[in-house]
Amino acid sequence: MANKRFNWGLLGPGRIAQQFADGLASIDDAALYAVASSNPERGKAFAEKNGGEKVYTSYEALVNDPQVDAVYIATPHTMHFENTMLCLNAGKPVLCEKPLTVNAAETRKLIETARGQNVFLLEALWTRFLPIYAQIRQWLDEGSIGDLHLISSTFGFSIPKDKDERWLNPELAGGTLLDMGVYPISTSQWVVGQNPESFGAKAILSETGVDLMTSGVLKYPNGVISQFTTSFLSNDVNDMFIYGVNGYIRIHANYWAATRATLSVNDTEITVNRPVRAGGFEYQTEEAMRCIRAGLLESPGMTHAQTLANMELMDHIRSEIGVRYPFEQ
Ligand SMILES: NC(=O)c1ccc[n+]([C@@H]2O[C@H](COP(=O)([O-])OP(=O)(O)OC[C@H]3O[C@@H](n4cnc5c(N)ncnc54)[C@H](OP(=O)(O)O)[C@@H]3O)[C@@H](O)[C@H]2O)c1
Repeated sequence: MANKRFNWGLLGPGRIAQQFADGLASIDDAALYAVASSNPERGKAFAEKNGGEKVYTSYEALVNDPQVDAVYIATPHTMHFENTMLCLNAGKPVLCEKPLTVNAAETRKLIETARGQNVFLLEALWTRFLPIYAQIRQWLDEGSIGDLHLISSTFGFSIPKDKDERWLNPELAGGTLLDMGVYPISTSQWVVGQNPESFGAKAILSETGVDLMTSGVLKYPNGVISQFTTSFLSNDVNDMFIYGVNGYIRIHANYWAATRATLSVNDTEITVNRPVRAGGFEYQTEEAMRCIRAGLLESPGMTHAQTLANMELMDHIRSEIGVRYPFEQ
């Protein structure tokens, strides 16, 4: 029997929201039902372009619409806590952009609320749900490259140096760690299957006090080291390499959005391509729908405990590199 159409509501129709809408359009039994924006023109234009039936100028009104089955939150990091709390308290399942919140204390409260209210909550770490990552998982599980010892990655883009943009704005929890660092941290967590037991980090800070570049080294209980750099200063190679004693796996750029990976063992290489159906967000959206329909409160692909561990680590790294946001003083 066909599923009932799944109605998504969207808060904050900005840049990344379009990629969510593109992915959603490729899912047969789901639709962008409602859009809420503080700016009526922006909300209307986004809904018209993407087939949204309803446009709200208040986030509360969307969340209280009984036709909305789940909400995707695409506002800046600093608003995720308040927006997600609004949804959870109204009993609406949430797929919220990364990072789930700006610190672990907020994440802990959201997880407690989701469980208390019996409502699904997922941080939108779409990378884990991409088809190429299923191939990488298979190579790792088969032990193709032997015991792992090193993960190495760069995530760097030269961004416009506009102080008002959220990237450099401390009031909006700017900086590379929260924006990009979630990818190497959560992908390493996914590869190793553990959380780091120790770390080191160095950063270059902006005049506004956020990190323009952060380099981190994570050490896992099983001995694996993950070294990563996130940067607003240069256009980097943006591959991830996973090294084992018998060879390596290369996740081709951009590794967090990858469609291609190479397995290299004893000088023999196999490259696999796994194109995405739309922009790539469709897989995490399908996973959220699958979990919600099954009555789950979290996705086994990105659990609450994993999100919380990553937020705790980012708190510690921020403390190490000296990034403290004004709203945390
Ligand atoms: N998964 C990914 O690959 C990916 C990529 C990029 C970004 N992201 C995440 O997505 C989130 C949004 O990023 P974005 O670049 O799309 O943001 P954006 O375009 O700057 O803004 C998105 C929406 O947030 C609201 N907003 C923007 N600036 C605001 C401010 N100063 N105060 C209050 N509300 C504001 C607006 O909502 P209204 O229309 O309601 O006013 C806007 O439409 C971030 O948390 C980011 O980490 C994820």
